[in-house]
Amino acid sequence: MSDEPKTTTSDFWKGLWKDGNTGWHRNEVNEFLIKYFDELTGGRSNLRFFVPLSGKSMDMLWLADKGHTVVGVELAKQANECFFAENNLTFTVEIVEMSVSEPVEVYKCKEKRITIFSCDLFAVTENDVGGKFDAIWDRGSLVAIAPSFGDRGKRYTTKMRSLLASDGNYLLESCYYEVDRGMNPPASITDKQINDMYEEDFTIKKLEMNKIQANPEKESSFAFDINYYLFKPKGN
Ligand SMILES: C[S@@+](CC[C@H](N)C(=O)[O-])C[C@H]1O[C@@H](n2cnc3c(N)ncnc32)[C@H](O)[C@@H]1O
Repeated sequence: MSDEPKTTTSDFWKGLWKDGNTGWHRNEVNEFLIKYFDELTGGRSNLRFFVPLSGKSMDMLWLADKGHTVVGVELAKQANECFFAENNLTFTVEIVEMSVSEPVEVYKCKEKRITIFSCDLFAVTENDVGGKFDAIWDRGSLVAIAPSFGDRGKRYTTKMRSLLASDGNYLLESCYYEVDRGMNPPASITDKQINDMYEEDFTIKKLEMNKIQANPEKESSFAFDINYYLFKPKGN
């Protein structure tokens, strides 16, 4: 679609990486992933985890070190190469045929069970990634895809459902704020929008909400809430 906001284009995100505008990145493991880890795994070991829009998240390393298999999707090559280099990991790159898109580069870590597809999230299907996942950790993903533009939010949740096993769990971090920032990430998402996007395919449990005050010198010039939700697939 020609009127897609520029924030949904690969050039926009590659530009942020090129210019070092990656303020979302944290050098530590997300504390809420740790907090809700048992709910996410259901106490099960050796799971297949999906980390959509993976960036160079340390969470992938932590999950792999817990004995799980991790698959990320990240369109920026620079992010993928930084992830391996900054964590002293080595990788191979394979060109892989995809079911519904052009072949893509897939990064495979040699030391740990981490694989990253270097492509658009919407290009990935269950067949491409070796079957459905047991768990999804969504931090900086839903909020980065401009979910309120057209049907992108619903397309996204349908994609997530198609990639998650019927006994799987899905942990989401999202945010809500009141200033108008257009289609700039991260998107502001209300509980109602979460319901509208997810309730057809998932049961929804809101885990917690944290209020973050405006702090112009540090993270944000406006106040926002960070929300955590646990989703479970409905039906099969
Ligand atoms: C806000 S960052 C979050 C990264 C990571 N989840 C984290 O918590 O650090 C979003 C990432 O998704 C990538 N990205 C944006 N749109 C994408 C898409 N449609 N498919 C794959 N990757 C995408 C960007 O390059 C960026 O690295």
